[in-house]
Formats: sequence, C-alpha cells, structure tokens
Amino acid sequence: MTAAEQASANIGVVGLAVMGSNLARNLASREGNTVAIYNRSYSKTETLLTEHPEANFVPASTYEEFAASLSKPRTAIIMVQAGKGTDAVIDALTEAFEPGDIIVDGGNALFTDTIRREKAVRETGINFVGAGISGGEEGALLGPSIMPGGSAEAWETLGPILKSIAAIAEGEPCVTHVGTDGAGHFVKMIHNGIEYADMQLIAEAYDLIRQGTGATPAEIADIFAEWNKGELESYLIEITAEVLRQVDAKTDKPLVDIILDQAGSKGTGVWTVQTALNLGVPVSGIAEAVFARAVSSKPAQRAASAALPGPSSVPTVDDKAAFIEDVRQALYASKIIAYSQGFDAIVAGAEEYNWDIKKGEIAKIWRGGCIIRARFLNRITEAYAENPGLVALVTAPYFTDAMAGTQDSWRRVVGGAAAAGIPTPAFSSSLAYYDSLRAPRLPAALVQGQRDFFGAHTYKRVDMDGTFHTLWSGDRTEIEATDSH
Ligand code: 6PG
Repeated sequence: MTAAEQASANIGVVGLAVMGSNLARNLASREGNTVAIYNRSYSKTETLLTEHPEANFVPASTYEEFAASLSKPRTAIIMVQAGKGTDAVIDALTEAFEPGDIIVDGGNALFTDTIRREKAVRETGINFVGAGISGGEEGALLGPSIMPGGSAEAWETLGPILKSIAAIAEGEPCVTHVGTDGAGHFVKMIHNGIEYADMQLIAEAYDLIRQGTGATPAEIADIFAEWNKGELESYLIEITAEVLRQVDAKTDKPLVDIILDQAGSKGTGVWTVQTALNLGVPVSGIAEAVFARAVSSKPAQRAASAALPGPSSVPTVDDKAAFIEDVRQALYASKIIAYSQGFDAIVAGAEEYNWDIKKGEIAKIWRGGCIIRARFLNRITEAYAENPGLVALVTAPYFTDAMAGTQDSWRRVVGGAAAAGIPTPAFSSSLAYYDSLRAPRLPAALVQGQRDFFGAHTYKRVDMDGTFHTLWSGDRTEIEATDSH
C-alpha cells in the first residue's frame, strides 16, 4: 500500500456488530465516502468484507493501521456496547490519533459519561463527540436519526458526513448539532424515555381493547393499521400491527400469546427517570412505563398476588366501536403528555448543563429514522417555532385543541379501566398529570402545612411575601421565619 492509498478513508467505524456493520455499510454506500473498518476480533471484519465486496471499505487489523488509513482530520465512529468497552476503545484511539482528529461515540452512553469523556479527550487536543443514534438495525443501514453533541469544530467536519447517512424527513436530514459535550446523548436518552412511554401506552390500548371487546390479536392488528392512517401515524403503531398479526409457527397461536409477558430493558428508560428525578421534572408517563416493565418482571410477586380480590362487578362494553374510538383518543392524549414531559426534561437538562438546545430542531430530527418517529412531530416543531419559550408543550394551541377533543374519551377509558380492574398505569398517570397542571389549587398547600407541623419546614402565603412558620406546639401563632428548609 502506498502512503496515499493508506490514508484514503474519510471516515472510520470501530465495532462491527450489527449496528456498527450496518452503519459502516450505510456510510460506504454514500457517494464520496471510503470507510475504514476495525473490530477487536478480525474475523468480524473479514465477514463484513466477504459479505459486501462491493462496499468501499478499508480494513484494519490494528488501531495503528486504522489510524493510518484515515485522512486528516481523522474521524471515527465507535459502535460498541456502552460501558467499559467504550472507555477502552476511546483510550486506544486517543493513543493512535492526533490533535484535531475526531472520535465519535455512537452508542447509547449515559450522558454524564459523555461529559466526563469529552473533558478528558479534549485535553489531548482530540475532539470527542457523543452522538445518539436511533433507528435500530434497519435505521443504521438505511438512515437513522442522529443526535450529536460535541464542539462546533467537530460538527464542521462531521456534519456533512452525518447528513449524508441520516434519514430524510420532508427533504431534511434527521441530524442536527444538539449542543456541546453530553447534549446529544442526553437528548437520545430522553428519546428513549419517550419510546418507553409510547410503547407502554400502545400496550395498554391493546390490552383494553382485547379485554374490553374480546377482539383477537389479528383483529386488533387491523385496528392499529387503521389508526396508523390518522393522527397516531407512527413507526411504533405500524410495528404493533405487525407484531399482533404474527402467528407462532410452532403452535399456530398468536405470537403475542406465546411471548413471556415480562418486559426487559437495557437501562436508558431508567436513566431518563433517574435524571428527571434529579432535575425535578415530572416525567410520570415515562416513569410508569419503566415501572410497568419492572412489575411485569416480578413473577413471584405476580403469582402470589393472582388471587387478590378484584372488582365485584366488571362493567360491560356495549358499543364496541365507540369504546375502541375512546381508547384511540385516550392514547393520543396520553402520547401528547409523554412528549410534553420529555420536552420538559430537555428544557431542564439544557438549563442545568448550559446547552443551547433548539426544541423545534429536536422534534424535526425525530420525524424520520428514529423509533419514535410520528406524524405529529411536525406539530411540535410548529409549536416551538411559534413560541420558543413555550412553558409546556401541551399549552400550545394545537395541543390544547387536541386535549379538548380527546379528554372525555380519556376520562371514560381511565375510569372504565379502574372499574374493570385493568391496569393502565401510563394512561392514568398521564391524565392525573394533566389534571394537576390545570388545577387552580393543588393539595400541595396541605403537604406544606404537614411539613411545617412536624419539621418546621416553613411555608409561603398566597397573600404576602416572606417565609412563615406556625408554632404548632405552642399557641399556634404564625411567625415570620428567617431560613427555610
Ligand atoms: C433506538 C432504540 C435503541 C434500543 C433501545 C432499547 O432509538 O434505536 O432506542 O437505542 O433499541 O435502547 O431499549 P431497551 O432494551 O431498554 O428497551
């Protein structure tokens, strides 16, 4: 190999498991790209080369060879399992690369790890970019939604490459420079939190229709396929119809009845909720979705509780079509709440970590490629374009109208589910959150009174400034307190 041939690749991929090899193939399929590829065990690299001889790949068997095959500034995307493995690859690349080069972590890293890594790598003069990549295996191959953080300098080189491989929604590539250091992985984490809520809401809708009307999974698949033609149109609704239609080859039964009803998770939903708790943002729909998976995965508790008493009489569904339409409306309303809560978390994260995140841009890059892609994301973009300082997404005119149109159905569904003993944690908590937001007065006043009673935690008054404490164990007069707890 001559020196010129050696440095012929403009982008590299480290880690050639399914996501990594699909992303490498996507990159190689775009005009002008030559892709350096490296995997810890060379056999994976060989397999990729054999299976795709047409692709513009430059294989490397060591990090030194990998670095030598890249033109400068060298740009490499790491696609390995998030965690310790990522640190080891970053160390190796930092060793092999030079100041000005760019290391991109395309895994599902925890954003605080990305902040730490960016700081450490920056000290070597190398750029580090944490990029959230959504869309699963197919998205990686055909066009994902990409959420990169990192420096503006890195974005200059990286932006055009990422734009060339991202999904296209309404003529625009689904990628934007989200913000500095961990901003990209933060936004990807929130994306996954919304994904959890959306999936749980859809699952509750399915369960309600099945239990309420006795429809078969295949019939419910038709209902979801129909819903996918309207305002609920989204990737998750589309795949739900396919999952429900699937028949198990071994038993001829609906596959959904054969799959063990214990939902797993890799942790990004938990991170979203933990982060939101730290930021003080109520993401109750997302939290209920995470907890619903946790409840499902407690077989001993579920078995021991199976004989617990339920409602003495279960209401019947007389008008099945009307009930199904109610569920559709309830799903739409709850989904709006899930996105509203997710965007609240983005706003709070941006404030805490000093990121200039453009909410409308985030909604735009989620319109294509990613798991939560949905028709109504355009409405979110419009809402933030009209009012960038929107305090709660649900208060934008379009969504307020949607709430007016859906809420009677929503209330009937949540009330009916409670009466029938069908668990709807995400539907119910979304409605409770919505009613909390709109309540002119909340019983939080009583909570403050209780806190002041047992802990002298003080309270504020509605009619004057200052901080007050009541002498509960004395003559119960009120005194102005100097420090609040
Ligand atoms: C995506 C997905 C992807 C992954 C989730 C699954 O955007 O492409 O979110 O990142 O499938 O992490 O998460 P759980 O295993 O936790 O459900």
